[in-house]
Amino acid sequence: ELNRKLFQPYTIKNVELKNRIVMAPMCMYSSHNEDGKIENWHRTHYTSRAVGGAGLIIQEATAVTPQGRISPQDLGIWSDDHLDGLTELVTLMKEQGAKTGIQLAHAGRKAVLEGDILAPSAIAFNDDMKTPVAMTIEQINETVTAFIQGAERARKAGFDVIEIHGAHGYLVNEFLSPLSNRREDEYGGSAENRYRFLKEIIDGVKTVWDGPLFVRVSAKDYHEDGLDVDDYIIFSKWMKEQGVDLIDVSSGAVVPARIPVFPGYQVKPAERIKHEADIDTGAVGLITSGLQAEEILQNERADLILLGRELLRDPYWPRTAAKELGHEITPPVQYERGW
Ligand code: FNR
Repeated sequence: ELNRKLFQPYTIKNVELKNRIVMAPMCMYSSHNEDGKIENWHRTHYTSRAVGGAGLIIQEATAVTPQGRISPQDLGIWSDDHLDGLTELVTLMKEQGAKTGIQLAHAGRKAVLEGDILAPSAIAFNDDMKTPVAMTIEQINETVTAFIQGAERARKAGFDVIEIHGAHGYLVNEFLSPLSNRREDEYGGSAENRYRFLKEIIDGVKTVWDGPLFVRVSAKDYHEDGLDVDDYIIFSKWMKEQGVDLIDVSSGAVVPARIPVFPGYQVKPAERIKHEADIDTGAVGLITSGLQAEEILQNERADLILLGRELLRDPYWPRTAAKELGHEITPPVQYERGW
């Protein structure tokens, strides 16, 4: 049999993924009771991808405070009341052989909610959105604490991996980019200062979590006054020093700029960060075929392959890719006669 890297295990800290296929975090806006809790949709949707054979499933952006939701239907982890649902979901996914991750998030100025919304500076994302309140130092400290408490709850629920959402123009990204951060205190100005909020979250999370820690970044702002891959290579070196294990490399959405998309459009930044910051990376964005995934891994452009929309269209994509690559994967025993 050919040596297919997509189906080789990947070990990070104490966790072994059975393959390199990762379900990307994707908001389902299906907490219909508006209390941040897991509902039947989540049980069905996530467990389907576990049965389909994904090595790691990263649960959608899950809010660390009620104000940190993108919408009232977002999942949450701001209260111990969320623990039962999350624990059950983790158990369901693990029973089907997947490892489990959770993306801890705060929407910042992109929240579409009643009441005040928070950001580093009082600048709206666009004309249609609310102008956020510039966070006080106390609000910054409270939010860092909320990420730490979220991580602690994620550990209690049994997740294998924690990912901090630092991408797509949500709160952490808003601190990193000079386009959204115009602060004049120790959280704004220089790169070190803009990084301080994320730095404090990482240090804090690590006091309650010694498992694999990923950070998702938007490695380009697609704006001449914004950040580019070179800036994220520096941030990634700092994250590595702090003990982050993997950078999940996405791009854009901190300001409303046009993103030129094409197959694998974010692979190059993942490759550069992997080699120039010397840290493992995940590649994501219009990766749809087994061959494309295999090329990325064999040429050491990234260590994990994340799939979003293709895994929505095809929960059995691991099987589809295995067939394409001439590789055999073991089906769930219940399906052995019909695989
Ligand atoms: C997303 N994406 C996303 N990203 C993220 O970091 N947290 C999230 O909660 C979400 N939510 C979300 C919902 C839906 C329905 C889609 C389609 C996408 C982005 C996603 O993780 C991925 O980076 C992009 O979709 C690009 O990868 P694909 O879809 O081309 O494989």
